[in-house]
Amino acid sequence: MRIFTKTKAAVVGALLASTSMVQASDVEVLHWWTSGGEAAALNVLKQDLESQSVGWQDMPVAGGGGEQAMTVLRARVTAGNPPTAVQALGFDILDWANQGALADLNEVAAKEGWDAVVPDALKAFAKADGKWVSAPVNVHSTNWVWANKAVLDANGIAQPTSWDDFVSAVEALKAAGVTPIAHGGQAWQDATVFDAVAMGALGPDGYKAAFIDLDSATLGSDAMKTAFDRMAFIRDNVDDNFSGRDWNLATAMVINGEAGFQMMGDWAKGEFLNAGKVPGEDFLCFRFPGTAEQVTFNADQFMMFDQGGEVSTEQAALASAILSPSFQSAFNVVKGSVPARTDVSDADFDACGKQGMKDLAAAASSGNLFGSMAHGHAAPASVKNAVYDVVTAHFNGEYDSETAVQELVDAVEIAK
Ligand code: GAL
Repeated sequence: MRIFTKTKAAVVGALLASTSMVQASDVEVLHWWTSGGEAAALNVLKQDLESQSVGWQDMPVAGGGGEQAMTVLRARVTAGNPPTAVQALGFDILDWANQGALADLNEVAAKEGWDAVVPDALKAFAKADGKWVSAPVNVHSTNWVWANKAVLDANGIAQPTSWDDFVSAVEALKAAGVTPIAHGGQAWQDATVFDAVAMGALGPDGYKAAFIDLDSATLGSDAMKTAFDRMAFIRDNVDDNFSGRDWNLATAMVINGEAGFQMMGDWAKGEFLNAGKVPGEDFLCFRFPGTAEQVTFNADQFMMFDQGGEVSTEQAALASAILSPSFQSAFNVVKGSVPARTDVSDADFDACGKQGMKDLAAAASSGNLFGSMAHGHAAPASVKNAVYDVVTAHFNGEYDSETAVQELVDAVEIAK
């Protein structure tokens, strides 16, 4: 009993201490950037703020894709104690804006001319009812493949450009005793792979009809069955220990030559760079076979919680630091993403970053830029979670492809 009381007191004490440590001139930032590459990128932001004498209270919540971070956020808001700034994606931002929880950033946005330099695809999630409510940090995209160049070369494999090429490459690696595909079996990672696979199988019109317009006929189409069949092929070519593995550990398998490929958003590049690897020499980055023209994007943003009327000086400093062109370059060079502003030079970016910037501009102007379902930019969280459930159940062998298609139609219908 005494031990319990002591322990409880210690916990309460620690909580109070951590709350009182947040000074008026600090920003408390909730985020899920906890891998090596992500932390290196976050440091760029921390240092930028520290140079302006704004202190940084770190509130990391591990878990790629941010599901756990969003759970912690809900608890904090319910307790009446939201963090100053929160990393968030797509529809989640609009959700908080609709609840009136976010600060109005219009003044800083107007002063710095955000409207002219942030593309419409991002404004759709950064503004609500004409008000800027969050500061876009970057543009990531999910239809990328990362490959170990030495492993491919040793097995005479050229960069695959079609699904059939990819199948041959995977089979060659398997025959050579190399794990063809590094993957982490977590729902958000399964769904990230599914973004690219579905884009390849359905094409851009089909992807939009299924995941943005939520059209039942497309969700239940033969092309969707093809997408699930391809997911089953991928499942057959991951190693036995894939279940529950974090995404960055899967990336490490490719970095270390234990696996040939990983399908993952371009945050994976941050891990390669953090390990001292060079694109084109040590690793290859290319669009998922059959999706060379398309970009399925997600943009990290920092939403600012309303702290009682006015945007605080620290929130304004953070927002303005995030949108500054020099920060947009410095941060995204490290993170693997590309700038959220259209007027940033690609001079400091490596080959993958330059390609990412070119692809994004081309996709935006040719009507090939679509929000990522897996990362909350295609449909609201209820639909996203319904898709996660079906994709993961199928990936783990609970459904065959035909059943998965039917389950997807039903789950999206209920969720929308
Ligand atoms: C995404 C996020 C990226 C990256 C990834 C893995 O949702 O947009 O910035 O961090 O999760 O954690």
